[in-house]
Amino acid sequence: MKRIDVTNLSKEFTLHLQGGLHMHVLSGIDLQVDAGECVVIHAPSGAGKSTLLRCLYANYRASGGRIVMRHGDEWVDLVTAGAQKIHAVRHSTLGFVTQFLRVIPRVTTLDLVAEPLVSRGVDSGIAVDRAKEMLSRLHIPMRLWGVPPATFSGGEQQRVNIARTMIVDYPILLLDEPTASLDEANRATVIDMIHEARENGAAIVGIFHDEAVRRAVTTRLFSIAPAQAVSLVASI
Ligand SMILES: Nc1ncnc2c1ncn2[C@@H]1O[C@H](COP(=O)(O)OP(=O)(O)O)[C@@H](O)[C@H]1O
Ligand SMILES: [Mg+2]
Repeated sequence: MKRIDVTNLSKEFTLHLQGGLHMHVLSGIDLQVDAGECVVIHAPSGAGKSTLLRCLYANYRASGGRIVMRHGDEWVDLVTAGAQKIHAVRHSTLGFVTQFLRVIPRVTTLDLVAEPLVSRGVDSGIAVDRAKEMLSRLHIPMRLWGVPPATFSGGEQQRVNIARTMIVDYPILLLDEPTASLDEANRATVIDMIHEARENGAAIVGIFHDEAVRRAVTTRLFSIAPAQAVSLVASI
């Protein structure tokens, strides 16, 4: 079953500090992803991989094309969707793991990880049990569960971030280098979680710096051709 249908996507940035230069980062991107696939974007640094994922999450508004996603029993084009619809898609359909945790002050790690389930109507006792399970699998020591993650190391924060997203069974998952600063054991956990999400029917699009992780999770590679990558065009 198709879950993502991107056609002719383009993204350009206007660099106001450089005299209004237009930087064409993505053009002519076509990408379809089915339930159960893990499509890995493979391209050199700076080619626009993160930009593509941010467009798919509607963090960046695409300059052109369509980004159609299966949301419940409807299809939503995120390029033209309004803020409320984008919010609804992110709530129940679309999860995004980035390298960075948006730290919420004074909320304990356990509550932070359980929160996405609670806000989706799951009983708080069950949500907390599931959060404990996620934190254990990602080797966050129990003594840290009652502490806000503000003071955690980069790798610990990244694992909290992964736990907080992967605790929800999103039908579509976007992963931007989720294993970038993790050790071997935690990379293995993330690989397992990706397999489990696929078995649950998630359609996944990811960027993985690490060759071994890429080999373990990829069902299909997607290249951003150099010809489609960065070009500079001066504005008139
Ligand atoms: N918000 C932005 N404003 C201007 N340029 C950006 C912005 N985001 C990304 N870029 C530029 O787009 C290009 C692709 O960046 P990115 O998508 O992060 O590459 P990758 O993830 O493949 O390394 C880079 O040249 C980057 O500087
Ligand atoms: Mg990137």
